[in-house]
Amino acid sequence: MKNRYQGRSLAVIDDLSREERMYLFMKSRELKEALKEEALEVVDRFRINNPDFGIYEVFLEDSTRTRESFRNAAQFHGVKLGTLHAASSSFNKKESYADTFDNLCGYDNMIFIVRSKLEGVCRWLEKSGREYARRMGLEIPPAFINAGDGKHEHPTQELLDELTILEDNKWDTSTLHLALVGDLYHGRTVHSKADGLTIFDKVTIDLVAPPELAMPDAYIKKMKAHGYKVRIFSSIDDYIKAGDVAGKWYFTRPQLERMGEKIRARQDELRGAITAREDQLPQLSDGTVFYHPLPRNKQYPTIPTFLDNTPFNGWERQSANGRIVRIILLGLIAGTIGADFTGKVVRKDNNIEEDFIHEVEITGIRSGKRYSEGVQPINEGYVIDHICKGDTPGEIRDHMTVVNRVLKLTGRGGEWVSRSGDGYKGIIFRPGDLVLDDKMIKKLAAVAPGCTLNHIKKGQVERKLRLTTPPRIYGFKEISCKNPDCISHPEHSEGVPADFERMGDDTFRCVYCETSHTFKKVWG
Ligand code: NCD
Repeated sequence: MKNRYQGRSLAVIDDLSREERMYLFMKSRELKEALKEEALEVVDRFRINNPDFGIYEVFLEDSTRTRESFRNAAQFHGVKLGTLHAASSSFNKKESYADTFDNLCGYDNMIFIVRSKLEGVCRWLEKSGREYARRMGLEIPPAFINAGDGKHEHPTQELLDELTILEDNKWDTSTLHLALVGDLYHGRTVHSKADGLTIFDKVTIDLVAPPELAMPDAYIKKMKAHGYKVRIFSSIDDYIKAGDVAGKWYFTRPQLERMGEKIRARQDELRGAITAREDQLPQLSDGTVFYHPLPRNKQYPTIPTFLDNTPFNGWERQSANGRIVRIILLGLIAGTIGADFTGKVVRKDNNIEEDFIHEVEITGIRSGKRYSEGVQPINEGYVIDHICKGDTPGEIRDHMTVVNRVLKLTGRGGEWVSRSGDGYKGIIFRPGDLVLDDKMIKKLAAVAPGCTLNHIKKGQVERKLRLTTPPRIYGFKEISCKNPDCISHPEHSEGVPADFERMGDDTFRCVYCETSHTFKKVWG
């Protein structure tokens, strides 16, 4: 049976299903026991044990734990470990990510561990790596593991956090009450919690951060969609005062390097709200455990060092678990372990086939409906109706300019904003011999979802299409992700074509950095 983990990339924690993660944790548990009991034969079964199997670390941001635990994991496996010295590499000569990794792949490296300021890098490399594998006739494409991408996600940190919490929960997955304390805005480890904690059936999350460092709405929305109960507090003091305090606290450091000047200037005051103090501790219930992905700031640790030798210290067990889960993850992706996994695999399929262009029966309207442009009836041409229905007249007018630009609807005709029910809608008239082919109609659906397209011949509606919101917007040069840190943002010149998938609420999520956009923003 094919090993379902082999060659897989891990760009976000959601790339592994709940069952896949639980399997990984069970294997981690088995390995830990075998190591403890020095059951060498059992331990050896976990090893890749192939000096030609290449794993490469590429860190474009500083790291101790993530990089070193992966390095120690690679040593356990007895594989070839390469390190790209990014600061002195051809990145400085403006070489793209895709080119850089294609070349490293050519030296028989199959797993890449990548940390970057740019968000969505591994999702992009997964795609470009598949193309490379096809060109080079590789049977298994290279895998990319996200070791932290900007303020987006840190899926392998999430794996070791989940393992530690499971151990402390005695492997009970029925409930979890966890406080996330610190820089929840910039901290990527806490963002991975939104999808990661689905291994627990009933989750309560308490978010403790001053408003300047608050958890972004997109992650709160995700948590709520998973059924978590979410409570929000602006400081540890407020949290304790409110009561029903969690027995597990997960701290994150203020991410000074990602903050703007204004917020950084107020770091002392903000840090106060998220730093544990001695006088607060007696108010916490017995057995309360603190976690931290680390590093702690040596001058201003938010978990004070006097707590190191107390039962609050969960962060050291957590850190040691980093090597274990990474050993297992590498073994799974290499195909050494995992062949007996039979659970559910999730893969987001963004090639959903769905009709969003609907023919409207015109027999009923043929005789009656006539479009006119001002006083002139239209004899030949197109009328695009119901544009941005419900928006304000100003918004509708602005967006009609975008529709005209994107579809190059120049020439005769014009635009109207007209009343529609209680609100307004936009109408674009284009008399003449313009022809909108299928590709342009698809584009129209993407730039003006909800509109109708009327093709007028001899003064009557010959064909009418209702265009609903497409499942994906991609393949158009006019679209772009508006997150300046996204790998696909045009400013980075990485040649990554923008690509968006529709979410449940009809917003569009960048497939790389996962930033949510309205359809207007996609084209803006
Ligand atoms: C974290 C990171 O880099 O996101 N550290 C880690 O990987 N253990 C957290 C941090 O930098 O604060």
